[in-house]
Amino acid sequence: MVFYRGVSLLSKLRSRAVQQTNLSNSVRWLQVQTSSGLDLRSELQELIPEQQDRLKKLKSEHGKVQLGNITVDMVLGGMRGMTGLLWETSLLDPDEGIRFRGLSIYECQKVLPAAKPGGEPLPEGLLWLLLTGKVPSKEQVDSLSQELRSRATVPDHVYKTIDALPVTAHPMTQFATGVMALQVQSEFQKAYEKGIHKSKLWEPTYEDSMSLIAQVPLVAAYVYRRMYKNGNTIPKDDSLDYGANFAHMLGFSSSDMHELMKLYVTIHSDHEGGNVSAHTGHLVASALSDPYLSFAAALNGLAGPLHGLANQEVLLWIKSVVEECGENISKEQLKDYAWKTLKSGKVVPGFGHGVLRKTDPRYTCQREFALKHLPEDPLFQLVAKLYEVFLQFLQNLAKLNPWPNVDAHSGVLLNYYGLTEARYYTVLFGVSRALGICSQLIWDRALGLPLERPKSVTMEWLENHCKKA
Ligand SMILES: CC(C)(COP(=O)(O)OP(=O)(O)OC[C@H]1O[C@@H](n2cnc3c(N)ncnc32)[C@H](O)[C@@H]1OP(=O)(O)O)[C@@H](O)C(=O)NCCC(=O)NCCS
Repeated sequence: MVFYRGVSLLSKLRSRAVQQTNLSNSVRWLQVQTSSGLDLRSELQELIPEQQDRLKKLKSEHGKVQLGNITVDMVLGGMRGMTGLLWETSLLDPDEGIRFRGLSIYECQKVLPAAKPGGEPLPEGLLWLLLTGKVPSKEQVDSLSQELRSRATVPDHVYKTIDALPVTAHPMTQFATGVMALQVQSEFQKAYEKGIHKSKLWEPTYEDSMSLIAQVPLVAAYVYRRMYKNGNTIPKDDSLDYGANFAHMLGFSSSDMHELMKLYVTIHSDHEGGNVSAHTGHLVASALSDPYLSFAAALNGLAGPLHGLANQEVLLWIKSVVEECGENISKEQLKDYAWKTLKSGKVVPGFGHGVLRKTDPRYTCQREFALKHLPEDPLFQLVAKLYEVFLQFLQNLAKLNPWPNVDAHSGVLLNYYGLTEARYYTVLFGVSRALGICSQLIWDRALGLPLERPKSVTMEWLENHCKKA
């Protein structure tokens, strides 16, 4: 049974926050909004006109306000630090990390409904928050879980399409292929072909997005069971919540693994708009490609080793350390091993980030989960040691941003509960990302955001421009 910790807990949190303002981990005064409607689509319908007006006002009153200067470094440096995207569902601060609609991960853990007292937030609750900016009640989360359950069927041709690939194909290739095969049922595409008015485009986007979010765990679980369990699939269990059901279909029945999956899906869902997968989804959708096409494109970006594939690489790297040096590796040995990786022109996966300049809070909450559930696990202890090694030695030695990101931790948790197939990990990330990317796609169409089309220039253009400057 779902346990709701929302409104009553909030008042407790508010008074506690006032009492504990000097404690570094105290919850700040939460200005959370709630609402009572149970139907998510109707809730959105109500919110959209006011957000459209807000955007119109911003444009007409402040459209010409400058947000910064663009330098040659920015153009050559992958657009780092260049503000150029509107992304409503989350915002990333380099020091503090991610906030989903203004709430930190810690705050989400406190205020979003959980499946059991003190448990991890239900991803459905996070989805409601991402879409509406409001903290849902237990009844609203129940209603959304039901909506997702009712959409969680996958046509047979999708499985047949995946089966056409060699079983050895990378799991992300199989997963993205499955998502492309789902596209044939796109309501958006049908509505567009019939000539839908542009003000209504968010409606079929909502239909496709919610179906896609409901379907991806089934496709992902199929890939896992096909590759690693001789194709013995496990039917969905409608008595379970989204995260638990996903873990169940993969073949994991322990309640701790179900909790981990809820945490995993929640924290991997969204990371503002500039990361490769989110930006790709948003860019492709700006051409009015439907959510299936857009999300499949996003998955292909996520499959890169500097982005989502890093979670697979971390566990493989950790296992290679253990193979060479054993589990009781000293800090000195660990430093030497990491240094050897760096000197060979490779990255140490799980460290550094395009934006973050402090420990990723997604790392911290996974560490807290590990301290609670698997404090003695040798691989967890190795991860903790690696953190110290980076801060003490490698940041000076290698002049690196030494802070760990989300991927530095996820593999050892999954491995502990028996999900040991590291090559599969990015698929879990992909399932989670559907929540964030699809939520923003609905708002992209509701706000009528235009075709994305930045200007590019040649080196010659830059050289000439600089000479004149
Ligand atoms: C994520 C990442 C691509 C960000 O790179 P970035 O935006 O260029 O970050 P920085 O500006 O701090 O990088 C400065 C330099 O350090 C290097 N660097 C950063 N993190 C590194 C790491 N973990 N291992 C080795 N080198 C690293 C970069 O490649 C860059 O090298 P260059 O100047 O030769 O191009 C990078 O940190 C990385 O490759 N990390 C490992 C992969 C990973 O964990 N990805 C998941 C991110 S959530």
